[in-house]
Amino acid sequence: MRYGYFDDDAREYVITTPRTPYPWINYLGSERFFSLLSHQAGGYSFYRDAKLRRLTRYRYNNVPNDAGGRYLYVNDGGDVWTPSWLPVKAELDHFEARHGLGYSRFTGERGGVRVETTFLVPLGEDAEVQKVVVTNTSDEAKDLSLFSFVEFCLWNAQDDQTNYQRNLSIGEVEVELDGPHGSAIYHRTEYRERRDHYAVFGVNTRADGFDTDRDTFVGAFNSLGEAAVPRTGESAGSVASGWYPIGSHGVKVSLAPGESRTLVWVLGYVENPEDEKWADDAHQVVDKTRAHALLGRFATAEQVDEALAALQRYWTELLSTYTVRSGDEKLDRMVNVWNQYQCMVTFNMSRSASYFETGIGRGMGFRDSNQDLLGFVHLIPDRARERIIDIASTQFPDGSAYHQYQPLTKRGNDDIGSGFNDDPLWLIAGVAAYVKETGDLSILDEPVPFDNEPGTEVPLFEHLTRSFEFTVEHRGPHGLPLIGRADWNDCLNLNCFSTTPGESFQTTENKAGGVAESVFIAAQFVLYGEQYAQLAERRGLGDVAAAARKHVEDMRTAVLEHGWDGRWFLRAYDYFGTPIGTDADPEGKIWIEPQGFAVMAGIGVGAGPDDTSAPAVQALDSVNELLATDHGMVLQYPAYTTYQVNMGEVSTYPPGYKENGGIFCHNNPWVIIGETVLGRGAQAFDYYKRITPAYREEISDVHRLEPYVYAQMIAGKQAERHGEAKNSWLTGTAAWTFVAASQYLLGVRPDWDGLVVDPQIGPEVPSFTVTRVARGATYEITVTNSGTPGARGRLVVDGTPVEGNLVPYAPAGSTVRVEVTV
Ligand code: GLC
Ligand code: GLC
Repeated sequence: MRYGYFDDDAREYVITTPRTPYPWINYLGSERFFSLLSHQAGGYSFYRDAKLRRLTRYRYNNVPNDAGGRYLYVNDGGDVWTPSWLPVKAELDHFEARHGLGYSRFTGERGGVRVETTFLVPLGEDAEVQKVVVTNTSDEAKDLSLFSFVEFCLWNAQDDQTNYQRNLSIGEVEVELDGPHGSAIYHRTEYRERRDHYAVFGVNTRADGFDTDRDTFVGAFNSLGEAAVPRTGESAGSVASGWYPIGSHGVKVSLAPGESRTLVWVLGYVENPEDEKWADDAHQVVDKTRAHALLGRFATAEQVDEALAALQRYWTELLSTYTVRSGDEKLDRMVNVWNQYQCMVTFNMSRSASYFETGIGRGMGFRDSNQDLLGFVHLIPDRARERIIDIASTQFPDGSAYHQYQPLTKRGNDDIGSGFNDDPLWLIAGVAAYVKETGDLSILDEPVPFDNEPGTEVPLFEHLTRSFEFTVEHRGPHGLPLIGRADWNDCLNLNCFSTTPGESFQTTENKAGGVAESVFIAAQFVLYGEQYAQLAERRGLGDVAAAARKHVEDMRTAVLEHGWDGRWFLRAYDYFGTPIGTDADPEGKIWIEPQGFAVMAGIGVGAGPDDTSAPAVQALDSVNELLATDHGMVLQYPAYTTYQVNMGEVSTYPPGYKENGGIFCHNNPWVIIGETVLGRGAQAFDYYKRITPAYREEISDVHRLEPYVYAQMIAGKQAERHGEAKNSWLTGTAAWTFVAASQYLLGVRPDWDGLVVDPQIGPEVPSFTVTRVARGATYEITVTNSGTPGARGRLVVDGTPVEGNLVPYAPAGSTVRVEVTV
């Protein structure tokens, strides 16, 4: 069952009922100011840091789920309703929510009044803009009262939800009815002391009234759906003093039949320099110069339309870097639009703010951000470069790294610290992807400090060396890398035997390390160790490259000797040196991560897709047999049914959820890529479709989350609710599925000296064209595809047949035509 449809030409998903199984959201903003916006106008806004600079309040765990957002109440002759359906829930004659790239447009109609609201965060602005068009669709005159509503958050979202003894006394606002561009409400809590910023909520007309005190507007005993002021039809003119500051403008609109009126609301963030804080210091009146300038830039509907057009041009330009025409509309819309869009959002948000992440818990992850880069670097390489430097600056001199850092301060997060032994190697992955995309080797010379300590700067390449050496120097009894607190799987905590409720599995390390080893990190080392060697070569360090390759070969051998169970790769050795992920165990026999990663790294790849003596072939066949389901591949099987104290968090989840046998989508693309390495494109494409949202749209009632973005998890085969997704949007799945689809299934990937073209998508896609812009040149790649297992493409470049699968980079500005026959 569906709840909407894709409008591919408009690059929008159109939701046709407010009653989706869960709030289906969008993100506005891609620079400093961000908003989460559900199809029912729920969500919140923040400036740069979802925890420390939250503009509006949102209550997670709320009843109903999605109450709290930016609402417009309509009072039409006593009939009170909200065009977003929530919170009033008066039935609508027509409802439509369109989520586009960085904007959304909602239409609600009732009783002959249509309200169409376009939300966007314009490029270069620290504000959410709403253009509201109210139309009288009836055949009689209408006198309407409109009431806007936002609830301000007192900036620090965590403190805002905990520190009521202080916070209920500090709320302050200023109201300006006769401002230069209409009426505005200023939220200025804590501005009197150390804050240099305030929020402004303005409308481009002189309002007929306002409210800033929540209890007055809503009524002390009401829910938002029963708000008092909209019912009376008159703003009360309340001025918040402590308690719960809100912003509401009352605007009266009289419309003849067929007539429309357009209004613009702006919710902005403004920072003033210390010496320009006050317009009137003695009376503590906020200096509003910058706010007025902001409101002046969106004082007319035309200004908003121009900003929306600019945003659309921006996305057209970004997405032109990689496009495919395949004849499979689901593949095309995911690759061309939605997967890339999600990559931008994960790059910006890391794992901070979604409908499953509160924006207060997690900063930027070291491993997460490096992986997010893989799906983003082609869009805006300069921002990827900046991000790489930020991430590397949180590394320690011994090569280990803070697991997370705070985006506002860029400092490592001491609460979590380090000790996740996969983290360092992801830095090599991120840097290699950046250099392959751009050719910018100068990044390797960039001076980068350790732990942000001025004076400790060394060239970035030295950071990569420390990453590499860290793994070399932290190997266990089998020559495999020590796992530390965890590897990619945050929940495999082999040095933490926890029996205390609530204790963190990630930060508690109550067993001495030194024994527990990770086969996953070993595979990661083989893959990224080779990339490190290639980077060293490009710096003319042949001896460094040779020495690195020796370590890589040793690791490859160690994996095949000590990391192999007989039909698949082992997962780890635990604290006692006992193997994990072995057929001998009743549960947790086989784990997905080392299977996908080892094959991706080329470990045990034999003589082709049918070489059943090859460990890689056996491992992926076992994955298919034991882990694959119609909804994707589960993380391990069988899931643990009881708590395993020696393994940490993994078995805390009920069977089939999250890391305990859930379909943890992030690692599915590793197997997909692994299948393409083996030349089994049909299998790879089949797996891709099982987790990819556009192909799951028809089962939206089962999947339940947005059909346009990936979710972190889909409940596994042992779960009560097999097939149900959770944690949409902020997941490494976005970057990795884009890499899998664009670089391995369609097979166009940037390498050091050219584009590799090696499609492996199986016979279901008999022909396709990829347009790829790389280093300023455009490549038109037309593929005729038999899909035969093991077949590799023959290339004709600008009319000349070439050996191998590399198309050398052409000068910027040129167009290269590539014909491929598989
Ligand atoms: C989450 C984390 C990521 C981790 C994964 C598996 O997605 O953000 O860092 O690798 O879970 O535990
Ligand atoms: C990852 C895992 C999650 C775990 C968390 C701990 O996000 O997905 O299950 O609780 O890491 O930080």
